Amino acid sequence: MTTHSLAPHELRTTTGIAAATTDLSKVYGSGDTRVVALDRVSIAFREGEFTAIMGPSGCGKSTLMHCAAGLDSPSSGSVCVGTTELSTLGDRQLTALRRDRIGFIFQAFNLLPTLTALENITLPPTIAGRRPDQQWLDRVISMVGLSQRLDHRPAQLSGGQQQRVAVARALASRPAIIFGDEPTGNLDSRSGAEVLGFLRDSVRELGQTVVMVTHDPVAAGYADRVVFLADGRLVDEMAQPTPDRVLDRMKDFDTRSRTS
Ligand SMILES: Nc1ncnc2c1ncn2[C@@H]1O[C@H](COP(=O)(O)OP(=O)(O)OP(=O)(O)O)[C@@H](O)[C@H]1O
Ligand SMILES: [Mg+2]
Repeated sequence: MTTHSLAPHELRTTTGIAAATTDLSKVYGSGDTRVVALDRVSIAFREGEFTAIMGPSGCGKSTLMHCAAGLDSPSSGSVCVGTTELSTLGDRQLTALRRDRIGFIFQAFNLLPTLTALENITLPPTIAGRRPDQQWLDRVISMVGLSQRLDHRPAQLSGGQQQRVAVARALASRPAIIFGDEPTGNLDSRSGAEVLGFLRDSVRELGQTVVMVTHDPVAAGYADRVVFLADGRLVDEMAQPTPDRVLDRMKDFDTRSRTS
């Protein structure tokens, strides 16, 4: 398979779906410690769309993201990234797919302390033995507003700036899809708003596909749609969310789970 090194626009499929799960279940443990973290979840992430995943703690959000990104394997059901079904890949192919086609932004920034901001941003393509596309890189760096900080090491940057480095790193290899697990969870509201605005811009201006887990209705308001999980199941979806509507929906959940 040579498709792993293609840029996202070349990976565009006629289906318009960047990644999808079908009847995805994930069970941890067995016997008394058996937990059904995901229960037949089918969801598609459309190209060029910003999706937020919400739901109570322990409902399976991180598990869904990890399975969709090939970091964890399903107990049953399937996951496709583009037109590639992940179960058909061997370990090395899966590693290559994660590196070339998927970007990650975690709550802990996972930057390497001895490298400069620029070196951190260009690390994934460098590891893959590729020269990053300079024009693309310039665009990404100017969009995140890091042009004046490229020679700084992570310890010399603020939390928000470090998170922007992590966002730029996720975008640098033009992945087919970016997954963020509470990417702004550790940031103050102003830095969080900057990072969210940047993620939204990458969707609007660069056609990036983004999937983000969040507990914050304000953060979810940046997305094109919100999907709600409860007890490992997909229970609702909201298009063009606003913080108020998301908050109302969450209150609704609380009332129902207390009365059920
Ligand atoms: N490695 C594991 N071994 C056993 N159980 C696990 C493991 N990882 C997750 N779980 C369980 O699976 C369920 C879903 O966990 P998950 O981390 O996906 O929740 P979450 O929605 O991301 O929660 P939070 O909002 O607190 O991050 C939980 O009940 C959790 O205890
Ligand atoms: Mg989680």
